[in-house]
Amino acid sequence: MERENFGSKIGAILAAAGSAVGLGNVWRFPIETGENGGAAFIIIYVLCILLLGLPIMISEFLIGRYTHANTAGAFRIVSNGSPWKWVGRMGVFTGWFIMCYYVVVGGWTMHYTFLSVTNAFYEVPASRYEDIFNHFVANPWAPTLWLFLFIGIIHFVITRGVQSGIEKSAKLMMPTLFAITIFLAICSVTLPGASQGIEFLLRPDWSKVDSTTILEAMGQAFYSLSLAMGCLCTYASYFDKQTPLAKSALNVSVIDTLIAILAGFIIFPSVFNIGMNPNDVGVGAGLTFISLPNVFQQALGDGSFLAVVFSTAFYFLLFVAALTSAISLHEVATAYVTEEFKMSRKKGATIVTLTVLVLGALCSLSFGPLSGVKLFDRNIFSLFDDLSGRILLPLGGMLISIFAGWVLDRKLYRDELSNGGDMKTPYFKLLVFSLRYIAPLAIALVFLDQIGVFAFLK
Ligand code: PFF
Repeated sequence: MERENFGSKIGAILAAAGSAVGLGNVWRFPIETGENGGAAFIIIYVLCILLLGLPIMISEFLIGRYTHANTAGAFRIVSNGSPWKWVGRMGVFTGWFIMCYYVVVGGWTMHYTFLSVTNAFYEVPASRYEDIFNHFVANPWAPTLWLFLFIGIIHFVITRGVQSGIEKSAKLMMPTLFAITIFLAICSVTLPGASQGIEFLLRPDWSKVDSTTILEAMGQAFYSLSLAMGCLCTYASYFDKQTPLAKSALNVSVIDTLIAILAGFIIFPSVFNIGMNPNDVGVGAGLTFISLPNVFQQALGDGSFLAVVFSTAFYFLLFVAALTSAISLHEVATAYVTEEFKMSRKKGATIVTLTVLVLGALCSLSFGPLSGVKLFDRNIFSLFDDLSGRILLPLGGMLISIFAGWVLDRKLYRDELSNGGDMKTPYFKLLVFSLRYIAPLAIALVFLDQIGVFAFLK
């Protein structure tokens, strides 16, 4: 079967950046930064990206492009049949798991875009936002219907193929995402009192930095860059031989970090504008769907045109960010099913979509009718989230760095990295050093932290 490639370098970078820029940039990074010492946290985060994130991203790109195969196939080829082949399969399944709960939130972003555009938050008292959200997610129908619509859009893009589906949509959606982010950040920083918000976000406070901060920065860097889930490896399998791997990885990381910082410029000036304590805004869903709708109404004028525009633009931004990431997750699984079980793209994508419809619906219903179904004290949604994010993700990252640093043939690595000798690679020794020592050790610490070992020891 003829395998497609991305049609242009910019398309390839935008697609990979689309995978990286997602909910994590908006609903986690700004809060983590504000609470962990502002610019001090950003500096640590950037160091994590440079020392751990980039080497692993480059390795994933390299393995994908060298093999031109789905992630499981790619690792089978580079591992020469040794047990390292399991790292690829693990990546595919981690991505599949993440997709099942990620799409649920994708559906929520659509619902909140709809609520914003219809001015449904007009005259809602601050105390009601939590009820509105809890009521919505507990309803068996509405979230499931939004979820199906979200998955339907992904399915449409994926079945159109690599160039006409993924690349074309990334070329449309990523510039839209940049434009909305900049528009919202400008609106927000011109609000009265915005400077306090910017100060909260950026003032370096090293006294807040401890070992937990560093572990948090590493975990966030990993998730945010979409590492260890097959996404980057799969997308790189559509890169052509001229694509500069290290430069592309650097571009993706810079875009991802800039958007995350700009998200902070959107959120905190508005929070300070209404005199809210930033420690009370929460993170994740609580921040996004409970605190922020209220903040936007109050900061921009309840029910005003500006509030409608701002709020709609914000949730639409989240929707686009979640969509491009979810598309990358779907492609990991689709490429795997299509190539490993030799079937058409349409059929492979349909199988993946059906599994996500079922498992995604179970995750969604775990806030309502299935809320009593618990395992390890978690509902189905949290189970998918924790299993993939806390366990499989760091484990996969660690194994990839060990494999790339210790097992993968050094000459092959260098040849591929330099595009067959066309490009200089002065950073090669540092890269290998990180893959061999820094990354595995650092990720092992994140892993132990995530599964609660340090908290237990304390
Ligand atoms: N990087 C995405 C975010 O920051 O939200 C999440 C994500 C997408 C993680 C794709 C992993 C992945 F493979």
